[in-house]
Amino acid sequence: MKDKVDLLDKFEKIASNRDQLTAVGRDPTSIVIERIISPTEAIIDGKQTILVGTNNYLGLTFDPECVAAGQAALAEAGTGTTGSRMANGSYQPHLALERELADFYGVAHAMVFSTGYAANLGTLAALANNGDVVVLDADAHASLYDGCRMSGASVYRFRHNDMGSLEKRLQRLADKAGRTLIVVEGLYSVLGDRAPLREIAALKSEFGAHLLVDEAHSLGVYGAHGRGVCEELGVMDEVDFVVGTFSKSLGATGGFCASRHDVLPLFRYASRPYIFTASGNPSVIATTRAALRQLAKRPDLRQKLRHNAERLYRGLEGMGLRLGADVSPVIAVRFEHSADAARTWERLLEAGIYTNLFVPPATPDGSSLLRCSVSAAHSDEQIDTILERFSEIIEPMRSQAVRG
Ligand SMILES: Cc1ncc(COP(=O)(O)O)c(C=O)c1O
Repeated sequence: MKDKVDLLDKFEKIASNRDQLTAVGRDPTSIVIERIISPTEAIIDGKQTILVGTNNYLGLTFDPECVAAGQAALAEAGTGTTGSRMANGSYQPHLALERELADFYGVAHAMVFSTGYAANLGTLAALANNGDVVVLDADAHASLYDGCRMSGASVYRFRHNDMGSLEKRLQRLADKAGRTLIVVEGLYSVLGDRAPLREIAALKSEFGAHLLVDEAHSLGVYGAHGRGVCEELGVMDEVDFVVGTFSKSLGATGGFCASRHDVLPLFRYASRPYIFTASGNPSVIATTRAALRQLAKRPDLRQKLRHNAERLYRGLEGMGLRLGADVSPVIAVRFEHSADAARTWERLLEAGIYTNLFVPPATPDGSSLLRCSVSAAHSDEQIDTILERFSEIIEPMRSQAVRG
């Protein structure tokens, strides 16, 4: 019998998913930033818009020292490396950045990848293989799930931030615990809540497993030196591998893995997402290094970020909106129905406020939400304007929005 299914048939389902997303209004994936003005403002649809959906936590994308470092590197080293580090060689600044990252985390080794996505894929694929086990928080980012798939390890999820669920998973592994990697995020990217890392680290030690923490959204945000939630909660020494990205608080592109374990340099020979892709552009590496220096020199940015997060969170909370559990720079405004979330997102955009719309299946628990990401570069006036617009739009929809 001839198989009647065509290769392209699957796109009918994808088109229907897209139509569902756009049924209530504008396609959220169609936004064009016509002109970027600053870390917190852009022209969208011809209108000046406050950006509160950028992950630009420290507002460093226009930092004069970062921009100057990028311009100098562009002039000195050209537009790109045109190949992978394994085949074409590393540029000196790749190695310098790796040393600086290792020093920043107080560990022996760091490895730089071309994106944060590649860092997660490359770390998990090198670290866990067939016969090994990954135990992963259910709300983990797609890149961690994809890394698990690429690794070939057996993968078990535990309920988000639920220590009973993690413990049960570890108990069931019995003698495989030593071959197990626990994978969590420091600050969760959609709901903005933090992992209970002290409890997770205690379970990891009790069972003799290993621990990887993705600090993508918490680097530069938490801890006395901005190392992340691991530093904030005092568990830096118990974490085996820290992964993260340059694309959020550092305002660049790229990712890394840092570790005290001497096996990390061997990942270079075993990690396909490291081996088979072009290395970071010299200008991007230069702005990342400059941003890391700013992070150390400017603790005031972290303080301002906390102040802004608190101001926005409390203001939204005061409107009776249902938010994520923790006050953090990632603030999720949750809705019962995706149509309400989509309508609110669109009206906010029309009113000059850009947030991120998340609807299933992109949300961890099947809910619909608007994600606001706060920046140290937001002024108090901008935060107040965001709150005013929310209030003007939410009030008439009151009956539909989920109350806290
Ligand atoms: C938790 C987490 N890890 C990894 C990544 C991937 O980073 P990048 O976008 O820099 O590739 C992201 C990006 O959204 C993320 O939220």
